[in-house]
Amino acid sequence: MKTRVLVVCLGNICRSPLAHGIFENLLPSNDFFVDSAGTGGYHIGSAPDPRSIAVAKNHGLDISKQKARKFQSEDFVLFDRIFVMDSSNYQNVVELCQNEENLNKVELLTEAAGLNATEVPDPYYDDDGFEQVYQLIHQSCLQIVRKLIAQKKSE
Ligand code: 4NP
Repeated sequence: MKTRVLVVCLGNICRSPLAHGIFENLLPSNDFFVDSAGTGGYHIGSAPDPRSIAVAKNHGLDISKQKARKFQSEDFVLFDRIFVMDSSNYQNVVELCQNEENLNKVELLTEAAGLNATEVPDPYYDDDGFEQVYQLIHQSCLQIVRKLIAQKKSE
């Protein structure tokens, strides 16, 4: 069975689309399914922010076809692992948990990666922050991918 990985931020237009594209690029699609969502509903149906599309493109990724959607309780059933970008996302997702099993699926992306950074900051109001955010997400995803693939092999 595929391991289902969900990445979550607030708007699902800046950070999680980058993590979505990076994970999709690094994880073999026969073993993994990747999606992203936002805890807020302001941008439902929208393409990623043009600044995220541009930074992804600079790194060889096309994320322009993604569409924002809102995180929902059902995602706890549909996904095995849920990586959130910051502590506010964590709070919002954890509030929807029904049980311990749901709670155990939720992790901060940077923490799951074993990085020192505590969270991925919201770049929405900072035009210059997108490259830095990309780098932090990319470093995190690389570490997590190593772990996910190792786990898959041991299954
Ligand atoms: P994201 O960034 O959570 O990384 O997608 C944001 C996008 C939109 C807003 C905030 C953060 N907003 O307030 O509309």
